[in-house]
Amino acid sequence: MQVRQITLEGQQNYDSAGGAFPLIYSALVTPTSDPSHSANQLADTVVSAKRWIAENRESLIQALAQHGAVLFRGFGIRTDLEFDELIGTFELPNFTYQESLSNAVRRNRTERVFTANEAPPSVSIFLHHEMAQTPVYPSKLFFFCEHAEMTGGATPLCRSDVLLAKLLEVRPHFVAACERLGVRYSNTMPYEDDLASGQGRSWRSTLSVADAAAAEEKLTGLGYSWQWQEDGQSLRVTTPCLPAVRALEDGRKVFFNQLIAAFRGWKDARNSAEKSISFGDGSVIDSADMAVAIALADELSFDIQWQAGDFALVDNFLVMHGRRPFEGERRVLASLVG
Ligand SMILES: [Fe+2]
Repeated sequence: MQVRQITLEGQQNYDSAGGAFPLIYSALVTPTSDPSHSANQLADTVVSAKRWIAENRESLIQALAQHGAVLFRGFGIRTDLEFDELIGTFELPNFTYQESLSNAVRRNRTERVFTANEAPPSVSIFLHHEMAQTPVYPSKLFFFCEHAEMTGGATPLCRSDVLLAKLLEVRPHFVAACERLGVRYSNTMPYEDDLASGQGRSWRSTLSVADAAAAEEKLTGLGYSWQWQEDGQSLRVTTPCLPAVRALEDGRKVFFNQLIAAFRGWKDARNSAEKSISFGDGSVIDSADMAVAIALADELSFDIQWQAGDFALVDNFLVMHGRRPFEGERRVLASLVG
């Protein structure tokens, strides 16, 4: 399989911080006009794609650590099963979604492949590190676009180390407070999954429990505080103090938290943004500081404008992701790496 690096409009370039963002590879597949031929050719392409990834596995993982995200286009992947097989060739450990404390509603397709978020198309999922609002989170994410007959629906990506460096220049006190105090997140979870919300996962599913007693036991173990709500069914939880800035193994510091998504988007029938986040000591996070962080993150974002068959690998420690609203039919699947 012939593969080359390409550039796309809007791609970022950080000379002192790893070059192109994201790195983009395109496979060259020769089209054929014979339809029966075409099916066989596509199957061959998937075999070649898996072989190419297996051969370049180590350099791809290295490139991911440097660039933060790699987008693959034209590799001929069509189905959830092919996506699953392709993920297998990277030989990375799976992170099981069922056991995570994420608040998004998702549906599994295979053991490790699931729908990215079941929230309605009009809902924006704002930039976030996957599960940074919980003590347990994946190291990397795979995305795969199965179907792309939509307008909108891009996946914005933003480098958190670059964002933190810029934020430090213009809001040093805010960055210092984030580092010193950490953050707490609060979220009211429903008894049943709420498909109208981007964070509507039920407390039973989130905590993998069947009843209130088991929920309380699990939360105690995690260091959360909680409050049963007046309706007798929903559960409000607050995390222990979590870091808002983290240092990676290579020394890079990142704005690794859920502040932007929580501040902009944690609004539904049970939640409001102002009540969702605070510094670790309970003090209020200044909305003017958050507005600066949000504007900078938007400037630094690259939008993956999905084409069917695209897949991407994203370093969850280094890069935030989100989902633009859309109209039409969009199916993007995801898989998490432990
Ligand atoms: Fe996410």
